[in-house]
Amino acid sequence: MCGIVGYVGPKSTLDVLLGGLRRLEYRGYDSAGVSVIDPVEGLLTRKKAGKLDALISEVTEHPLPISHIGIGHTRWATHGAPTDGNAHPHLGGPHQKLALIHNGIIENFAELKAELTAAGTRFSSETDTEVAAHLIAREFENTGDLPTAFASVVNRLHGAFTILVIHEDAPDVVLAARRNAPLVVGLGDGENFLGSDVAAFVEHTKRAISVGQDQIVTLRRDSVEIHTFAGDKVTPEEFVVDWDASAASKGGWSSFMAKEIADQPQAVADTLMGRLSSSGTVTLTEIDGLSKADIASLDRIMIVACGTASYAGDIAKYAIEKWARVPVQVELSHEFRYRDPIITPNTLVVAISQSGETMDTLMATRYAAERGAKVLAICNTQGATLARESDAVIYTHAGPEVAVASTKALVAQITAGYLLALFMAQQRDTLSSAAAGELGRELLTMPAKVSTVLERLEAVATLGRDMADAKSVLFLGRNVGFPVAMEGALKLKELAYIHAEGFAAGELKHGPIALIETGQPVIVIVPSPRDSETLHPKVISNIQEIRARGAIVIAIAEDGDQLVGDFAEHVIFVPQAEPMFAPLLTVIPLQRFALELSTAKGLDVDQPRNLAKSVTVE
Ligand code: G6P
Repeated sequence: MCGIVGYVGPKSTLDVLLGGLRRLEYRGYDSAGVSVIDPVEGLLTRKKAGKLDALISEVTEHPLPISHIGIGHTRWATHGAPTDGNAHPHLGGPHQKLALIHNGIIENFAELKAELTAAGTRFSSETDTEVAAHLIAREFENTGDLPTAFASVVNRLHGAFTILVIHEDAPDVVLAARRNAPLVVGLGDGENFLGSDVAAFVEHTKRAISVGQDQIVTLRRDSVEIHTFAGDKVTPEEFVVDWDASAASKGGWSSFMAKEIADQPQAVADTLMGRLSSSGTVTLTEIDGLSKADIASLDRIMIVACGTASYAGDIAKYAIEKWARVPVQVELSHEFRYRDPIITPNTLVVAISQSGETMDTLMATRYAAERGAKVLAICNTQGATLARESDAVIYTHAGPEVAVASTKALVAQITAGYLLALFMAQQRDTLSSAAAGELGRELLTMPAKVSTVLERLEAVATLGRDMADAKSVLFLGRNVGFPVAMEGALKLKELAYIHAEGFAAGELKHGPIALIETGQPVIVIVPSPRDSETLHPKVISNIQEIRARGAIVIAIAEDGDQLVGDFAEHVIFVPQAEPMFAPLLTVIPLQRFALELSTAKGLDVDQPRNLAKSVTVE
């Protein structure tokens, strides 16, 4: 959480910082601030509670001079309410010449604050962050060297932090430190950048370096030096960002979420590209490190993920178990390591994360790796910590996802799960090559089918708008439709702030049916009637049971389902597909439903209250 950007170079720093913050705002939007150094006026800071627009009004009212070095921050509050005073940057030293921004939590701040208070330091915020600003300023006064002062203080901090510092008396350098929070460097020509992720600077440069754990960056116009906290020089590895800058802008859409929903056929196609041949064979060079023998000897797969990504994991479980015949457990990352899970050398842990920075998922994978498991990441963000720390990465090529509520990253994760399942089935010889080929070819048709669903969403949009006053919506699904139901409910909670629950349709009679009363809207993901082990009649029975008790049923069903219309008030049809692949289609109407309902309530769909896209604290 919290977005961080730093710049040194010839461009107008304020423009670079505000542009970067706009693209990082998904990380937190409780308050925002910038500091720059002007050769004449020295260090200047503007910060404001509220979204980035509040800061933009502030700098319009109280302009800053054109300057060539600065830092910017967008906050998701942990310590201290989202007020102007608690907004970053925080200033350090008696003359307030140092500005500091921070993402994470400084766990030993209370003891450091007591030390500073005893020495007469006055604090102007309730944050954990401010201690670091004062400590570094004091150390700089003592040593006269900012990099030395910075290194000595970050070594005293416990917890999770990315910290950036500038100082009026060292006006050519931005210092940055990273422990358990993300940081990437953007390399320019006569200019350099820092960001929480590459979105912060992708419009200026595609050359990047991912900063490792416990490392310090010394950023100047013409140089980037990286050292460990212990002072050893690090030779960084450069990578090229494959995101297009325009992909991180709304491009005429009413919201990022609307755009990202529309991007989904491309997200699925790009995730398949180069990995699935026209004959249906899967190639995953990314996991070459796992030999056929390794894959054959796997005794279990544990998928760890949070939020929407965990539903992609649930769907992957159905596919992997069915096709590759390996037992799969899906665990919420934050539950995983606290229950002493059984991990053997033949356990593969698959971590799914759009950002690759979700702290709960990082902690789960570290825990698993320490116990000897191999870790495979399914991740959307190059240079992310999860990608760096895993044995192998399957990148989902969804492009930058900006809206807090995940859409295109989810369909890309689901797609990657299918690829992994088919690949494992090939390696383990658990599917005939004819069956695997047929599934692979069918998977190639999914981007076009996703497009067809998008063309048919008007009816869903109308339903969403008409249901703006709903107090509660229930979602039912079975088999792969169950995680889709859970995701539909999560979207509605996140975006429209109404009570929503997803249930396995078979579980209905064991409790949830008591919730049904006259007028209760229920969205039902209806399985294909063509599936050989069809669950269709069972779900139709469930629909009858709830309708008999007054529910209003909206069914998501496949083309050609003759029966469902007789039992539901509304039916949204999606194209026919291999039943395992249906989630790629059935989830889309639920995304649009939540978007429309939220918009009809006048809410901010891209930045729902209290949430952040990338949850980098436990
Ligand atoms: C947050 C977001 C969710 C997201 C989850 C996991 O809770 O609000 O939209 O699904 O984190 O994020 P990740 O980046 O790990 O996929």
